[in-house]
Amino acid sequence: MRKGEEIELEITDVAYGGDGIARHEGRVVFVPFAISGEKVAARVTEVHRSYARAEIKNVTVPSPDRVVPPCPLFTRCGGCAYQHIAYPRQLEIKKRQVAEAFRRIGKISDPPVEAARPSPKDYHYRNRITVHVQPPEIGFRGTDPRRLVEVKECLLAEERVNAALAALRAKKRLRPGPATLRSEAEHTGFRQVNDGAAQVLAGAVTELAGRGEILVDAYCGAGFFAKHLLGNFSRVIGIDWDERSTNHARTNAGANEVYFTGDTAALLPAILAEHRPQVVLLDPPAQGIAPEVIATLVSSSVPRIVYVSCDPATLARDIGKLAAHYELKRAVPVDMFPQTASIETAALLEQKS
Ligand SMILES: C[S@@+](CC[C@H](N)C(=O)[O-])C[C@H]1O[C@@H](n2cnc3c(N)ncnc32)[C@H](O)[C@@H]1O
Repeated sequence: MRKGEEIELEITDVAYGGDGIARHEGRVVFVPFAISGEKVAARVTEVHRSYARAEIKNVTVPSPDRVVPPCPLFTRCGGCAYQHIAYPRQLEIKKRQVAEAFRRIGKISDPPVEAARPSPKDYHYRNRITVHVQPPEIGFRGTDPRRLVEVKECLLAEERVNAALAALRAKKRLRPGPATLRSEAEHTGFRQVNDGAAQVLAGAVTELAGRGEILVDAYCGAGFFAKHLLGNFSRVIGIDWDERSTNHARTNAGANEVYFTGDTAALLPAILAEHRPQVVLLDPPAQGIAPEVIATLVSSSVPRIVYVSCDPATLARDIGKLAAHYELKRAVPVDMFPQTASIETAALLEQKS
């Protein structure tokens, strides 16, 4: 295989990240914007020892789930990966990718992954976007990350966010750098990006967490889950190291909520020892949880862990590390980011007896 060669490929899978997968002359070939079951004529763009990359020239046998992408920037803008795939099929693909991560990275042979729960809106769902300003251009990083793609309207953003983008574009003097445009003024700590899907996720987390006396919400941000779960627990204890977020959580906190500002790794051992919660909820950033947090959980007697993750690979890694002590009972993907390759998952682990 050489760069520039045109080859026929049959797509057998869609990998996490969005690339279609094919095999050719003993190599795995990654083909962006392809769907399993399709046959494509493609041009080889990169050749490595064990894999290659190719771009579609022509889809010779299209999938019945192939649709016309509504955004004219699709394939050039780096934000979306799946606009060419009908929404129900996107959900199936994401479910399979979560299961595959558990099998491959977590070494869990038959992971109990449920159907991905859809976002109420599959476009115009984002309550904020971050654009890059390089006067006179305003846009997103492209699929080629060296390129900025000029964006006048983002089809993933809520109308008010696009109005904020139009207002930014109308400014005479632009400050170079990233600019976050929001649907409403808010504290600058973490907030879920898709309000409708965040409610679906909160519903899934409530189901998985069940009921009990005490719940610890580690990586709680402004207490989004803690506040949802208040009705099912006598007390919730939140931990986050971002002071703006914990301050925000405290502003409307009732008597049965307490929020600590600090590193989960440092605070969790004493909180577990003192409060003996029935459930620990973890919602860390994409890097997953620190080895110290795994060690604390392994040596604890917490009966249930609910792990919310925006990265199936680190989720599978961490659950794999907990596997000697905790069994994965349920995994529920929730589509927080339709049209993109990102996946949010809520998983329930129970202590092994
Ligand atoms: C994915 S967000 C989740 C926030 C919250 N659960 C929500 O739904 O709004 C991750 C949060 O973890 C916090 N964080 C990251 N590393 C941390 C650490 N080592 N200790 C405590 N908090 C941390 C961040 O400040 C952020 O608020």
